[in-house]
Amino acid sequence: HGVMRAAVARQARRGNADAALLLDPERQGDPFAHYERLREHRPFAEGAFSRVTVHHAVCTEVLRSEDFGVADRDGAMPAPVRLALRLAGPPAHPGPIDPPSMLAVDAPDHTRYRRLVTRAFTARRVAALRGRTEEIADELLTDLQDGSGPVDLVHRYASLLPVTVISEMLGIPTSMREQFLAWGDGAAAALDLGLPRHRWLSVQSNVAALHDWMTAHLRRLRAEPGDDLLSGLVATTDDDGSQLSEHELVSTALLVLAAGFETTVNLIANGSRLLFDHPGQRERLAADDSLWPNAVDEMLRVESPVSRTARRARRDTEVAGREVPAGALVVTVIAGANRDPDVFDRPDVFDVGRANARDHVAFSSGIHFCLGAALARMEGEVALRALFERFPDLAPAGEPVRRPTRILRGYQSLPVVPGAPA
Ligand code: HEM
Repeated sequence: HGVMRAAVARQARRGNADAALLLDPERQGDPFAHYERLREHRPFAEGAFSRVTVHHAVCTEVLRSEDFGVADRDGAMPAPVRLALRLAGPPAHPGPIDPPSMLAVDAPDHTRYRRLVTRAFTARRVAALRGRTEEIADELLTDLQDGSGPVDLVHRYASLLPVTVISEMLGIPTSMREQFLAWGDGAAAALDLGLPRHRWLSVQSNVAALHDWMTAHLRRLRAEPGDDLLSGLVATTDDDGSQLSEHELVSTALLVLAAGFETTVNLIANGSRLLFDHPGQRERLAADDSLWPNAVDEMLRVESPVSRTARRARRDTEVAGREVPAGALVVTVIAGANRDPDVFDRPDVFDVGRANARDHVAFSSGIHFCLGAALARMEGEVALRALFERFPDLAPAGEPVRRPTRILRGYQSLPVVPGAPA
């Protein structure tokens, strides 16, 4: 009995450890101390509902393994909650991260969905967009320049640049961008677990709005196709050589749209904040602009916009020599892996010249490796470089506010005074 009780208590403590990691919004401010506590557990901390790893090698092994598949979102919840959700049936409006989104399905479906959009995101296609991205950055910065006094960098710049680029890329009217940002903000918490009911309902209504808009838009394109990416996708769904159903099409389009503007905003805001806090690094960039691409990877490493993802074992398997049973959930903490001292020398130090900055897993690894990685890197570099070159005296002006999301790490507002333009 004593042994049993001790085992249960241990399990509960471990359960608390992962519940705290997964569910405690307080940690959003500084989760890194918590990751360091988890680092003592090799290869992972075992909780009641999941295994949690902050080790780079373990994250990579799991993310690349064919023995693991994507996890359903309710996976980390206690069984009764999961059952209740299952009884409630599938959501009426599957969002960008619900099946059949490529992010939420395994091979071979994944292979098919991904192949259809891969061509649009090659490094060459992205390089061709750089000039236009620079123009967009310039226009937005000129708008910033016009006022005096503090402005919100997130609202006026970091969020607008990516949503404009992805809208133009997809051929969506840019007049929709403010509306997308509002819906996207409302829907982003869908990634998080254990939301209170009122927030869950608000997430659902924002997802529904995005879903309805996209469904109508794709129907318009079917009637009157243009030469944009989405018209191209629609064209692949005709009945004869059909590749994507309408359902699949909407979810793919929504994923690319939402992933295109919900994440890069955090790279730009987190990167700005890092440069405010590290004037020495900022000076290095001002003196040598060839450091920018590496600086962006270093920003992705120390302040990863997507903190974690998860995978579920599809069969009994092993990770780092430890047995993992079929069905087990492994939470791969990307932000923790990116500060793994086994891979990164003095991992907490922000160093724009770090030789192996690109070894981070901020874009994940394996078959779901971020489709937009080249685009995000280009946008981050163009946006941050243009910002800091135009406003050499750019400075924070008041308390930044973090986004209320847990998986997405960034700022809701970041007040700054631009200062005189260069
Ligand atoms: C997947 C991060 C920007 C499109 C992912 C994943 C991560 C990620 C971590 C994989 C999640 C997992 O393994 O479970 C980021 C970060 C970005 C960024 C940190 C910006 C700094 C973008 C952009 C696009 C995009 C600009 C634009 C199209 C996608 C898509 C997937 C994806 C479509 C799903 C890929 C698949 O399932 O095969 N991203 N992303 N991302 N990302 Fe990004």
